[in-house]
Amino acid sequence: MVIPSEKRNIFQVKGEVSLDDRERLHGHKGAAIWFTGLSASGKSTCAHRLEKILHDMGCSTYVFDGDNVRMGLCSDLGFTEDDRTENIRRIGEMVKLFVDAGIIAITAFISPYRKDRRKVRSLIDEGRFVEVHMDCPLDVCAERDKKGIYEKARAGIINNFTGISSPYEAPESPELLIRSHTLDVGKAALRITGYLKEKGIIC
Ligand code: ADX
Repeated sequence: MVIPSEKRNIFQVKGEVSLDDRERLHGHKGAAIWFTGLSASGKSTCAHRLEKILHDMGCSTYVFDGDNVRMGLCSDLGFTEDDRTENIRRIGEMVKLFVDAGIIAITAFISPYRKDRRKVRSLIDEGRFVEVHMDCPLDVCAERDKKGIYEKARAGIINNFTGISSPYEAPESPELLIRSHTLDVGKAALRITGYLKEKGIIC
């Protein structure tokens, strides 16, 4: 149960530097680019390519990658529904701080549950949350998989595996839908960059 902050004697502190000030310094808006999709759907590859393009344009960026975050901040979590919800909650709170810092935070998590992604969206100001669905058929993901985890999941060695023994709830209205089995990573990243320009997040 979450105890309201006033009851814990915790109050919001306002700094002397505003988000507007920070964004002026960065030369772009703070935003969260939230990739979601099956394992091996291309989230991580596209997230890093997008970061490279934005970085070369002079933007302040950071990629949160599922496998990396699970080695540190979320190393205590597994893959049950509750653990995944907690994983996404922690990342969501972290990303909210990065957006407030005026940074373009790019995330690559399966984030299979709509309710968890909806919660993260609600933490971030309207227009600054860009959900990108990396849509790729399960068989293509399994074929591409270099880690051999689909094979282990099919053999029952790994439990609660997304798409096999655990659900993936596709976004109903993501800001961007990328069919990653037909669109190459460079074109996909440029499509996202185009969207960010169109929405005034970058110039
Ligand atoms: S999430 O569901 O909580 O968003 P996250 O993106 O952090 O998942 O982690 C996914 C990565 O963990 C996969 O790329 C894969 O390498 C690894 N993994 C290990 N076990 C599982 C599993 N049961 N289901 C999905 N991914 C798994």
